[in-house]
Amino acid sequence: MAHNLLQGKKGIIFGALDANSIAWKIAERCVEQGAQIVLTNAPIAMRMGEIKKLAEACNAPIIPADVTSNDDINNLITKSMEHFGGKIDFILHSVGMSMNIRKGRNYMDLDYDFNHKTNDISATSLHRLLQTCYKLDALNEWGSVVALTYIAAQRVFPDYGEMADAKSLLESIARSFGYHYGKKNKVRVNTISQSPTRTTAGSGVKGFDGFISYAEKMSPLGNATADQCADYAVTLFSDLTKMVTMQNLFHDGGFSFTGVSAEVIEQMEK
Ligand SMILES: NC(=O)c1ccc[n+]([C@@H]2O[C@H](COP(=O)([O-])OP(=O)(O)OC[C@H]3O[C@@H](n4cnc5c(N)ncnc54)[C@H](O)[C@@H]3O)[C@@H](O)[C@H]2O)c1
Repeated sequence: MAHNLLQGKKGIIFGALDANSIAWKIAERCVEQGAQIVLTNAPIAMRMGEIKKLAEACNAPIIPADVTSNDDINNLITKSMEHFGGKIDFILHSVGMSMNIRKGRNYMDLDYDFNHKTNDISATSLHRLLQTCYKLDALNEWGSVVALTYIAAQRVFPDYGEMADAKSLLESIARSFGYHYGKKNKVRVNTISQSPTRTTAGSGVKGFDGFISYAEKMSPLGNATADQCADYAVTLFSDLTKMVTMQNLFHDGGFSFTGVSAEVIEQMEK
């Protein structure tokens, strides 16, 4: 379904690891809609090789960058501008990793070095990215930056652990930087709060299968898929949503505003 919503636009997509990644679908959809893109991921993700397939399909260069490195982000933005021959119109931040969850440590037993790394990768990286773009004047007027988040930033999901705090910080950075970038260049910054989705990062959460079917039962429209998230992201990168900024936008089939559903009550009565 090509409408050329992003015709002539140039963007950077962070976080496509494999075909399940939300960023993978968003990259494909942006290109379908007429955008030119640069792909980036952590140097370690390059070794898995999957991203090269996406790069070929999207006719996009890959510029590796660890989101915790100022030098890498600076290099990525500078090289992307060289590649495009000008400024950038949109950026997707689709990056998250919990060191404590990965090491099997729950919220009451955090290792603070791991915690620091988690916040750096999953939240502060959005600030680093925005600050780098701001200082290099890398984004066109009415540019759009979108980061992916989860409702654990607002409500407790016990097994989401320290990532809940990281997502709260991420959403706060989108608001705070959104103010300053809006004032300076009319650049908008938003977060999409996506339904649980089967990906490498998602499946790292304990009890993910139960979690995903609970959300499915609680959402009047069902869980939003990665493909549907890609459609939504395209609208936010397009000129059809120019006045939307500093928002956390729920893309979850209605989950966030449902107190309880008939299906969940039925289950409880069994
Ligand atoms: N899957 C879900 O259920 C779900 C729900 C809501 C929000 N999200 C968010 O969506 C985003 C994308 O996750 P996904 O589910 O597609 O999983 P994914 O594992 O495919 O993507 C996570 C990406 O982060 C990258 N990354 C990790 N450390 C990095 C670093 N230091 N530098 C650069 N990149 C790094 C990984 O290489 C990977 O590509 C994350 O922010 C995640 O929290 C996921």
